[in-house]
Amino acid sequence: SEAIDVRKGLVGVYADESSVSKVMPETNSLTYRGYAVQDLCEEASFDEVAYLLWNGELPNPQQLREFQAAEKAERALSPALLRVLRDFPRDAHPMDAIRTAVSFMGMEDPECADISDAAQRRKAVRLLARIPTAVAATNRLSKGLDPIAPDASLPFCENFFHMVFGKVPAKEVIKAFDVSMILYAEHTFNASTFAARVVTSTMADIHGAITAGIAALKGPLHGGANEAVMHMLKEIPSPEAAEAWLRERFDHKALVMGFGHRVYKNGDSRVPTMKKYAEIMAEVVGDKRWMNTSAVLAKVMLEEKRIHPNLDFPAGPAYYLMGFDIPMFTPIFVCSRITGWAAHVLEQAADNRLIRPLSLYNGLEQRPVVPLAQRG
Ligand code: CMC
Repeated sequence: SEAIDVRKGLVGVYADESSVSKVMPETNSLTYRGYAVQDLCEEASFDEVAYLLWNGELPNPQQLREFQAAEKAERALSPALLRVLRDFPRDAHPMDAIRTAVSFMGMEDPECADISDAAQRRKAVRLLARIPTAVAATNRLSKGLDPIAPDASLPFCENFFHMVFGKVPAKEVIKAFDVSMILYAEHTFNASTFAARVVTSTMADIHGAITAGIAALKGPLHGGANEAVMHMLKEIPSPEAAEAWLRERFDHKALVMGFGHRVYKNGDSRVPTMKKYAEIMAEVVGDKRWMNTSAVLAKVMLEEKRIHPNLDFPAGPAYYLMGFDIPMFTPIFVCSRITGWAAHVLEQAADNRLIRPLSLYNGLEQRPVVPLAQRG
């Protein structure tokens, strides 16, 4: 058995080919369909990026208008789903709520079982349109407030703020949010995307694949980290106290959330752009505490551990400064990553082979079954 190479955590394993995105850890860079993410953040909007991920090319103005119109038309939740959301436990974690809501959307979808490429694409648009509505509704219901219906006259990001807060914020805030959505959209074979591909490889439908993706994203080693980052920043009394706080953490060998990455070992390509927009948010709100504390943590982590921050590190405080409740941060990640997940579902289905690896057995030798009456 020594000759068998077991790669725990599938570290360094190429599980398939993909043309959706490319991570280049040597240069800390990331491209979606050949475009650098930083360029997409400055030149394009999240809905253009969604179109790009699903179609391989950026839309022209006419294609974008059609795509936006299709998304806007699908935002409303059914009365049945709204009733179900009201019956969820008040203190349910919003990730559990959105996971359940997406599963329910599958049962309701007239094309649920149709896994043809055309039907999967239509269902992907419906998910892109409806997930934010469900995320906003569960957030409001958890606070005893009524959901706010989507407004089809508003663009994607503006509509999300409208459904959460009942108003649309300043342009800089929308831009910072839009940038975060672009940065969260896609990232090769991360755990949740791989989970979605595994489900798709059995020829199950897209709602099942996205439900699995959401379940995987919840964990604090993956998407859950953006919430954990903000809880951590709030635990630190002041930027001046951050270094001592962190060193105490080192003594306990505790994980520092928002740091480290399986693929990037010299810095996450998405961090500089997100940090820039988190700083703009701090400026807009007039509260520099979180970014100042973050700067101390990043400096000490690099000096002492040679570990760089990942995207969740600046995204956490950015969302907090936008006014979102902390338990919404990972559900917001879902609103974005549905684009990458769906791109991978389509790619997997287009050239499918069942994903079914091997396990190297390390249990007991084969032995006889003792009849129940003879077992002591
Ligand atoms: N805090 C403290 N030590 C760390 C951290 C961290 N955040 N990340 C890695 N290390 C240490 C790790 O303990 C290991 O030390 P040693 O060699 O002494 O055992 C060393 O650095 C190498 O790390 P690794 O175990 O090879 O890393 P991995 O590729 O297995 O895990 C990770 C990657 C993201 C799970 C891990 O870095 C981590 O748990 N980070 C904190 C959670 C987090 O921020 N997750 C978000 C990931 S990126 C965006 C997203 O998906 O949302």
